[in-house]
Amino acid sequence: MTLARTTSVAVLGVSGQLVEIQVDLTDGLPGVTMIGLPDAALHEARDRIRSAIQNSGEAWPTRRLTLALLPATLPKRGSMFDVALAVGVLTAAGAVPAEPLADVVLLGELGLDGGLRPTRGVLPAVIAAGRAGIRRVVVPVGNLAEATLVPDIDVRGVRDLADLLAFLRGEDDRTVAGRPDGPAREVPGPDLADVVGQTVGRRALEVAAAGGHHLLFTGPPGTGKTMLAERLPGLLPPLAVEEALEVTAVHSVAGRLDPDAALLRRPPFEAPHHTASAAALVGGGSPYARPGAVSLSHRGILFLDEAPEFQGGVLDALRQPLESGEVAIARSGGVMRYPARFQLVLAANPCPCAAPAGEGECRCTSTAKRRYFGRLSGPLLDRVDLQVSLQPVSPADLLDAAGAAETSATVAARVRAARTAAAARLSGTGWRINADVPGPQLRSRWRLPAAVTSQADLQLDRGTLSARGYDRVLRVAWSVSDLAGRDRPVRGDVDEAVALRSRWTTR
Ligand SMILES: Nc1ncnc2c1ncn2[C@@H]1O[C@H](COP(=O)(O)OP(=O)(O)O)[C@@H](O)[C@H]1O
Ligand SMILES: [Mg+2]
Ligand SMILES: [Zn+2]
Repeated sequence: MTLARTTSVAVLGVSGQLVEIQVDLTDGLPGVTMIGLPDAALHEARDRIRSAIQNSGEAWPTRRLTLALLPATLPKRGSMFDVALAVGVLTAAGAVPAEPLADVVLLGELGLDGGLRPTRGVLPAVIAAGRAGIRRVVVPVGNLAEATLVPDIDVRGVRDLADLLAFLRGEDDRTVAGRPDGPAREVPGPDLADVVGQTVGRRALEVAAAGGHHLLFTGPPGTGKTMLAERLPGLLPPLAVEEALEVTAVHSVAGRLDPDAALLRRPPFEAPHHTASAAALVGGGSPYARPGAVSLSHRGILFLDEAPEFQGGVLDALRQPLESGEVAIARSGGVMRYPARFQLVLAANPCPCAAPAGEGECRCTSTAKRRYFGRLSGPLLDRVDLQVSLQPVSPADLLDAAGAAETSATVAARVRAARTAAAARLSGTGWRINADVPGPQLRSRWRLPAAVTSQADLQLDRGTLSARGYDRVLRVAWSVSDLAGRDRPVRGDVDEAVALRSRWTTR
C-alpha cells in the first residue's frame, strides 16, 4: 500500500463536513508535503504526528510523504485531524491494514506521547459524520460522552495511538464503547417561590416566557431584578432533542462541555459581565472565531445585568444577531456562522449612583438619569417588548410572605399551555412564538377590534406610545391572552400589555 485514505471532519462554525485524507508514499528524498489549505496548526500537526508515531513504538516512513486533505477548497482548522493523519501515514507505510478504515471517521488531537487529547467541536463533527452515513467514529476518551449523544453511531473512545492501532490490526480491543444513556444530571435551577412580592415583575417574567419576548427590568438595587431574571429558564419548556443537540454543539465548539457532558436539555442561561468585550459577547478571536455569549445562549436566555454599564459598542454588536438570529464573522479561512437566537433580558438601575431605594442618598439629576439610561440605544430597546420598573419590597413583606409565592413549576405549566396555543395559531407561518410575529401582521392578519385596542390607540394618538411601541403592545397582548386561555385578546389584555411597558411611570 502506498496510497492510503482516512476520513475525518472539518468543523466550520457549528457545521461539519467530511474530509478525506490521502497519504501517498513515493520514492525520493524523505520529506512531507501537505495539500489542501492547511493552516498553521496543521503544519504543527506534522511534527506532532511524527513524535506521536515514534513514541507509540512505530516507525516514521523514510520515503517522500504527500498528505492531501480533500476537498482542498474547504477551510480546515485546528488539531482534529491528527489521528486521521497519523493512521493514514501508517496505513500508507503498510503498518496498518486498510480495510478496517472504510466508513470510519477518526477524530482527535495527538500529544507528542501518542495520547489522544480531547478537542473542541467533536459533537458537531459526529453529527456531520452521521448525516453523511458514517456508522463508526473513533474519538479521544475525553470526548466520548459528548460523541455518544448522537444516536445510531458506534462510538469508540481511545486513549492513545497504540490502543487504536491494536484495534485496527484486530489485536487487542482496548477501546471504550460509548454508553448511550449517560447519567441525567438535572440540577434544578433557582425557583420562583423564593421571590417575595414583585407581582408585576413575576407577571412580566411569565408573559416573557409565554411569548418569548425580550424583557427589561429597571429598579433600584436590591429589588430582585437579578433574582427574577435567573428564574426565567425554569419557566421555559425543555429543549426538544434536535434543539438540544444544536445547543450542545455550540457549547462543544466553544470548549464548554464537561468530559461527562450530557445533552443540554434546559434552555441555556448566559450572563456575561458588563466588562465583557464585543468578541466575548458576539464571538470572535483569531485565527478562528469562537462562539460568544449570544451563541452560547442560543435557544435560551442572554441576561445583561447592569446593562447600561456595558460599553456602547458592545451593545450595538447585539443588533445583527437580534435581527438575523445568527452571527457571521469573517475570517481569512471563510465566514464563520454561529446560531444566535436568544431571548434578551436586561436589568438596569435607574441611575448611575446605584443608591438603594428609599435611603435618600441618590442625588442624581434627572438629566444624569436620562443620560445613564440613554446608553441603552433606541434600536436595542425597540426590540424589547416588555419594559417594567420594579419597586422595593418592604422588609416586613420579605419576612411575612416567605413560602407563600407560586413555584416555577406552577408558572411553567401555564407557560407551556400558552406556548402550545400560540404555536397552533401560528402553524404554517414559520413563526412559533408571539415575539416572532412582525408588527404589520399583527395589524392586518390578526387585527383586533378598535374597542379592544382603545387604550393603546389613545396613547398612540397622544404620542405617549410610538408606532413601534404600539406593535410591541399588540404582541404582548397576544401572550397575555394565550396565558388566559382565550383565543384572542380582550380589552383587559391590551390594557395589561400597555401597563407592562411602564418603565417611565415611576421614579
Ligand atoms: N423580591 C424579593 N424576594 C426575596 N428576596 C429578595 C427580593 N428582592 C431582593 N431580595 C434579596 O436581595 C438580594 C439582591 O437581589 P437582586 O436580585 O440581586 O436585586 P437587584 O438585581 O435588583 O439589585 C437577593 O439575593 C435576595 O436575597
Ligand atoms: Mg442585580
Ligand atoms: Zn443616583
